[in-house]
Amino acid sequence: MKRDIISVLDMKSDFEKFVDDGIKLKKSFKAGVKDSSMDRKTLGMIFEKASTRTRVSFETAMTQLGGHAIYLSPKDMQMGRGETIADTGRVLSGMVDALLYRAFEHENVVELAKNSSIPVINGLDNLEHPTQIVADYMTIKEKKGKLKGLKIAYVGDGNNTANSLMLAAGLVGADFWIATPKGYGPPEYFVKESRSIAKRHRSEIEVTNNYREAVAGADVIYTDVWVSMGEEQDREKKEKAFRSFQVNERMVSLAKKDYIFMHCLPAHRGLEVTDEVADSKNSVIFQEAENRLHAEKIILKKVID
Ligand code: CP
Repeated sequence: MKRDIISVLDMKSDFEKFVDDGIKLKKSFKAGVKDSSMDRKTLGMIFEKASTRTRVSFETAMTQLGGHAIYLSPKDMQMGRGETIADTGRVLSGMVDALLYRAFEHENVVELAKNSSIPVINGLDNLEHPTQIVADYMTIKEKKGKLKGLKIAYVGDGNNTANSLMLAAGLVGADFWIATPKGYGPPEYFVKESRSIAKRHRSEIEVTNNYREAVAGADVIYTDVWVSMGEEQDREKKEKAFRSFQVNERMVSLAKKDYIFMHCLPAHRGLEVTDEVADSKNSVIFQEAENRLHAEKIILKKVID
């Protein structure tokens, strides 16, 4: 049976194995070990929205594993002229070995997966960002040596990245605190699902509007942009609402001395994070970005036969 990665929940049974295998793969790549497991395999990559990291990391991952990737933009495809997602999935299933899809709507990723006989990987939609989250937990494990029992504080918008991070926190037994301004918390479904998973792994999921209690004693502080792609019309309102949630030196002084700062990038410096924090010795944002490459490789190896 094919394996789609639409949600972190599609890695429910083996999420930490993705993380550990990603770290192992990174080490063997850096040691010069050749891996041609994607020989003659092709990844189709449909991007409805802009991307630097997701596009480049998947394309490079395919090249380094001996395969090939094709970038597809709806504005250059028949999908952008009315061909259905279902027909696109059926056609591409006969030509390539897997599809990566960055979409505005989660339902469209589900629709593509339902109509494709090949694996579909969610490259970010309005609800989740599962491939980012494998790289994030790889980075935390590399820096902290473990995941269970850590306190992860997410400060900012209750968005797709936050939803996926929160689901995964439960899976690895980390405590997860999310602090957002009132009205910008994560959807109830994700909180409920994450709490149910976390309970089984003896960890906690806490949602608050008080960033101080989230960040107090944290091992990890994570933030993301306040205005996601597709929300540009809300920029003024959101920037005003989020002003006191900026990750700055005053805020991070509440965390553990050896806390790490994370951001999935791109960062809007001076808004959700200051230069002082983003460029501090505690910041791991570029290691986190590099880990996208190794995370994508392990995801591709696990879904493509
Ligand atoms: N973090 C992330 O998904 O980056 P891109 O939008 O550049 O792909």
